[in-house]
Amino acid sequence: MKLTVNNLKDTEQIGQIISHCLEKGTVLCLDGDLGVGKTSLTQFIAREFGIDEYITSPTFTIIKEYQGRLPFYHMDVYRIDSEDDMYDLGYDEYIYSEGVTIIEWSHKIEGILPEDRINIEIQRLNDQSRLMTIDGKGSTYEKLIEELKKHENTCN
Ligand SMILES: Nc1ncnc2c1ncn2[C@@H]1O[C@H](COP(=O)(O)OP(=O)(O)OP(=O)(O)O)[C@@H](O)[C@H]1O
Ligand SMILES: [Mg+2]
Repeated sequence: MKLTVNNLKDTEQIGQIISHCLEKGTVLCLDGDLGVGKTSLTQFIAREFGIDEYITSPTFTIIKEYQGRLPFYHMDVYRIDSEDDMYDLGYDEYIYSEGVTIIEWSHKIEGILPEDRINIEIQRLNDQSRLMTIDGKGSTYEKLIEELKKHENTCN
């Protein structure tokens, strides 16, 4: 599915829809160029998820933990050189937990991503607008697509 968002406000709306679909064990992968909006989308998702803390990019810490309606793990694997490093950080325990996990730059660890996941690739169209390409596998992914279609219909 492809979605065009025209500005930050649209990204916020998409973030809210995504947030409502997140369940125990959901893994959401965000990819796209530097500064395209992966962390911004994560911030909107997190706020709607009941996290009061301001989310900052975990570029140096790789993984940050928050508590919303479920545990919420935010990873930025930009600086990860090998998939083994992820296991050293406890990657497995996060993705197979009762929480939800958002992974920026997920393609860097493509070989160890779970099969059931949501992938969002963000591309910059201009200053404000972005193209989001959403694919994935599993029941949470299916549910998200249904919700996004409803949203598209109300927009048209
Ligand atoms: N429609 C939009 N959606 C998301 N971000 C937008 C949009 N329009 C403008 N922006 C701006 O683009 C920037 C995105 O920065 P952000 O840190 O979220 O990117 P990132 O993909 O996480 O970068 P990095 O690769 O460094 O982690 C922010 O300054 C944000 O305000
Ligand atoms: Mg970021």
